[in-house]
Amino acid sequence: MYLSVSLISALLFFSSKSAATSVVTSRISAQNATVEALVYAFPLQPYVTFANSVANHSGAQWTTNSLAHETTLANASFRTIILPNVDTLYSEALLDLSGADLVATMPAMEEGRFFVWPFYDLYGNNVCNIGTVTNSTPGKYLIQYRASNPGCAPAKGEYEGIITLPTVYGAAMLRIEVSNSSDAAHVVSAIQPQFSLATYSPAAVARAPMLTEALLNGNLSMANPPLYFMELLARVAAYNPPEDASDISRISAILEAAGISSTTHTYTQPAGVDLASAYTAAMGTIAAVSSTPADFISLGGGWMTTLPSLSGDFHTHYDVRASIALGAYLQLQSAEAIYPVYALNQHFSSNQTYVIEFFGKPLVNGFWSLTMYDGDGFLVPNPINRYSINDRGNMTYPNGTLVYGGDSPSDSNEPFYILLQSTDHAVLAEWESNWLPTPANSEEFHFILRWYGPTDSLTDGTYKYPNITAVSYLFLSRPLNVQTYLSEAQYRVARLSPTGIFFGETALTI
Ligand SMILES: *[C@@H]1O[C@H](CO)[C@@H](O)[C@H](O)[C@H]1NC(C)=O
Ligand SMILES: *[C@@H]1O[C@H](CO)[C@@H](O)[C@H](O)[C@H]1NC(C)=O
Ligand SMILES: *[C@@H]1O[C@H](CO)[C@@H](O)[C@H](O)[C@H]1NC(C)=O
Ligand SMILES: *[C@@H]1O[C@H](CO)[C@@H](O)[C@H](O)[C@H]1NC(C)=O
Ligand SMILES: *[C@@H]1O[C@H](CO)[C@@H](O)[C@H](O)[C@H]1NC(C)=O
Ligand SMILES: *[C@@H]1O[C@H](CO)[C@@H](O)[C@H](O)[C@H]1NC(C)=O
Ligand SMILES: *[C@@H]1O[C@H](CO)[C@@H](O)[C@H](O)[C@H]1NC(C)=O
Ligand SMILES: *[C@@H]1O[C@H](CO)[C@@H](O)[C@H](O)[C@H]1NC(C)=O
Ligand SMILES: *[C@@H]1O[C@H](CO)[C@@H](O)[C@H](O)[C@H]1NC(C)=O
Repeated sequence: MYLSVSLISALLFFSSKSAATSVVTSRISAQNATVEALVYAFPLQPYVTFANSVANHSGAQWTTNSLAHETTLANASFRTIILPNVDTLYSEALLDLSGADLVATMPAMEEGRFFVWPFYDLYGNNVCNIGTVTNSTPGKYLIQYRASNPGCAPAKGEYEGIITLPTVYGAAMLRIEVSNSSDAAHVVSAIQPQFSLATYSPAAVARAPMLTEALLNGNLSMANPPLYFMELLARVAAYNPPEDASDISRISAILEAAGISSTTHTYTQPAGVDLASAYTAAMGTIAAVSSTPADFISLGGGWMTTLPSLSGDFHTHYDVRASIALGAYLQLQSAEAIYPVYALNQHFSSNQTYVIEFFGKPLVNGFWSLTMYDGDGFLVPNPINRYSINDRGNMTYPNGTLVYGGDSPSDSNEPFYILLQSTDHAVLAEWESNWLPTPANSEEFHFILRWYGPTDSLTDGTYKYPNITAVSYLFLSRPLNVQTYLSEAQYRVARLSPTGIFFGETALTI
């Protein structure tokens, strides 16, 4: 998922109010229709950004319907997208069904390696996934365009399944789990090449214009954002209807009222429409998405996540669709991944050290990770090049044995601890394997918890979510000679005490 920093606040408060529900189509004014059209159009801009990067992957020719493989995990020098994960290698594709159906070939995956191959419509709806969670059979999958019944359908003929997109243009972004850089090299050489996309029988009559660089970019300028969105939407809307077929006629009426012609595919600003104020109102609609907690589920311990019905696949929730497109583009359905947000914090700063206490291992069918970002959403440079703590690393229990990769069972309820501390302060040797470095110079930071292939235990109240405590870094830092304060034995006792990780009177609870 391409996430942005705004996600952190946006995820906190979602509204389930569809932008659509209050509109009376017959009486809608051109001005109001323009607001609705803009909200509807917002996901097109991240799509164009994605397209310009993916279709241009080789830096040569604009290429659709082909996989662009990322070959390395992100690190602190990676500045292309914000909030990258360091868990998976991506293989991206721009889908163009205007002239042909496509065939996706999915190989058998190595035992224990999670992957998901998500398919998205033009507006970022994750309409179908194949992979680990869906227990998909290796083989060929037909990708087709139909304006009705989008999603995954069962095996038919030579295909293990049918993937139906509601739009002629779309996207796919395969994610394959990797453990470390040597594992990534293995995935790049042995696994990525087994995935493929190919065009099937060309349609007798083209369904839509080909998806070209000119179609998405030609004669368009972001200098006037609302004009940009209306002109871009005009080019593609007729071939790319809303996901819910029941909303097609209502959306068509709104777009016509807003000045978008379904026959000439052009935009003409209706008399009396003030584009600038429509844009402000549309942005306000998106901002409103983050102003009510009604559509979150509480996970306990101050953690929350979005309602499954508002994750990844948005149907007529065009406001949420727009908000996620701008903040977390190409989000997955919640069956594939959830992102618990710690709602009790407003700001984390490297001024402070934090200890996160996990009450046992989260049960995932894929993997989990906690990844650190600076205030701008980039990975944090640090002396040990560690950007995430996860179930593939060398995290240890307080007694020094491995949490993962040792003897501890996969459903162990034993607590373990992650230390968030600035690179400005050296970390005690005992903490090093559980240290996730935060930025230098008292900067603000964010972390993202990811559960891939979450089990029900993570949302039904069974799993006790982690507790986050602020502690004084003096007690955790090497510059202070800890031996003068605590003997080794006292230190270990302190670590193992029922109150967990409190070393002194400076422990605080946030
Ligand atoms: C236009 O939107 C405003 C604000 O939401 C609303 O009060 C008004 O009734 C709408 N007018 C029409 C004609 O849709
Ligand atoms: C595609 O890549 C080439 C070479 O890097 C660059 O010159 C061109 O501007 C890129 N096109 C787009 C649309 O980004
Ligand atoms: C970061 O990634 C880039 C690109 O893959 C690579 O060239 C560089 O060596 C990496 N830096 C570190 C510190 O691993
Ligand atoms: C890298 O990951 C692979 C696969 O999980 C594992 O077998 C290997 O031990 C790891 N290597 C290091 C250096 O951690
Ligand atoms: C851009 O404008 C030129 C000149 O008016 C026109 O020939 C061309 O078809 C336009 N391209 C697109 C993609 O609209
Ligand atoms: C961090 O500490 C410095 C120095 O005391 C202070 O100036 C700064 O405002 C603090 N930053 C935050 C985010 O608390
Ligand atoms: C885990 O420990 C092993 C053995 O010390 C080391 O080779 C490996 O690099 C470590 N893996 C990670 C992810 O730190
Ligand atoms: C270390 O701690 C873990 C978690 O509490 C426990 O499962 C394991 O048995 C302990 N190992 C030893 C050698 O004490
Ligand atoms: C979190 O830890 C603090 C300090 O031990 C404790 O006071 C608090 O009750 C804990 N909260 C939970 C939910 O366990």
